[in-house]
Amino acid sequence: MATAEFSLTPVSGKSFIGRETVLKELMNELSNIKSHIGFCLYGKRRMGKTSILLETKSGLDKQKDIVISYISFYDMPELSQGTVAETLVSGIIEAYQQKGLLPLEISIKELFKAPLGVILNLLKNAKIEAKIAEQIKLTFEYKDERKDLHEYIRHAFGIGETLAEATNTKCVIILDEFPEIIKVENGLQLVKMLRAQYEQQRRTALVISGSIRKTLDAVALSDSSPFYKQLVPKHIVSFTKVEVAEFLRAYIGRISKEELGRLYELTGGSPFYLQFIGRATKYEGTVNEVVDKFISQEGDLFFKEDFDKLSSKERSIVIALCEGKRSLTDIAHELDEPATTVGSYLPSLIETDVLQKESRGTYYLADNLLAYWLKKRFKGQRTVPQNNQTATFLAS
Ligand SMILES: Nc1ncnc2c1ncn2[C@@H]1O[C@H](COP(=O)(O)OP(=O)(O)OP(=O)(O)O)[C@@H](O)[C@H]1O
Ligand SMILES: [Mg+2]
Repeated sequence: MATAEFSLTPVSGKSFIGRETVLKELMNELSNIKSHIGFCLYGKRRMGKTSILLETKSGLDKQKDIVISYISFYDMPELSQGTVAETLVSGIIEAYQQKGLLPLEISIKELFKAPLGVILNLLKNAKIEAKIAEQIKLTFEYKDERKDLHEYIRHAFGIGETLAEATNTKCVIILDEFPEIIKVENGLQLVKMLRAQYEQQRRTALVISGSIRKTLDAVALSDSSPFYKQLVPKHIVSFTKVEVAEFLRAYIGRISKEELGRLYELTGGSPFYLQFIGRATKYEGTVNEVVDKFISQEGDLFFKEDFDKLSSKERSIVIALCEGKRSLTDIAHELDEPATTVGSYLPSLIETDVLQKESRGTYYLADNLLAYWLKKRFKGQRTVPQNNQTATFLAS
């Protein structure tokens, strides 16, 4: 029987499907109060990273001695050093308050709006350890003085460690969309400072996540990056066929083996596509009917935006691929361009996950649904309209 409802936003609980191995590993390590090991979740956009983080959080929330704070860099009102520090402090303190381990009578968000005098008075009367009161007081001094913002962030990041020591807990800090930190002034320096601080902490575990591979390489994955070997990398990829079957069982309650194969092939196991198609069609009809309906209802709106971002040459390459021209020579011939010119466009198309290299000199489109949409829209078209003409062309 179907129990879950289709959603285009991160899911947890009964709507969350599969991912058993990675969840188990995250849970085992993060729930161990003695372990200081953290993780770096990376993978293409919309693969389900945030959902894994939220599911982990809800699992860990049940444990008394683990305090887990989920902070997304996307939710920050602006990307400045002051805001990063403030968001870190708020996220960590809020998690301790929610767990009943920090008896302040006012929410931390309210505290940030209050004048320093009021805060100091409140802290003096609160039933909390002097050391914690001191740390919180320091936060507002940093905030008001606005001088050494790096130190303010270091302090903010360290507040979890102080709270963890005082309450005999472990503080797990999840920083989703972490690559955004690079956009903050002196971003990479900031990351280095966080890493130095992290190394000294024993009761804090850090989990970062993001989809911008280049930035994650620079901060955590490559051997010259600050967090290299500090955070265990976890590559989040699309669902396996078994997970797609599990998804369909939970969301629609039925699917034949052949239909499952076809759906898996078309969606590539993308959890986002499975949700998106479900929301548009409820999976009523055969898979081919369902996908046709989805493409005609949502295709132009969804795929056109990304397709329009490509240059006219890139679009011609993509269409040639879609028409079955797989080798560089064939694509170049189709476009009537030298192979070296066409070749120079391929690295960025690969980097942005539009193309994948199959073997030496052959390529294919990474996204079968995009290919399906393109085939429907551009069938038989040799030349691709210029950017400003695409809208009219698609509307025709
Ligand atoms: N385990 C899952 N079970 C069911 N649906 C899922 C699962 N994981 C992700 N989804 C669905 O896939 C889509 C993307 O999920 P999510 O936002 O978690 O991915 P993400 O990798 O964090 O994306 P982004 O790169 O945009 O931050 C959503 O529609 C979500 O409902
Ligand atoms: Mg996300």
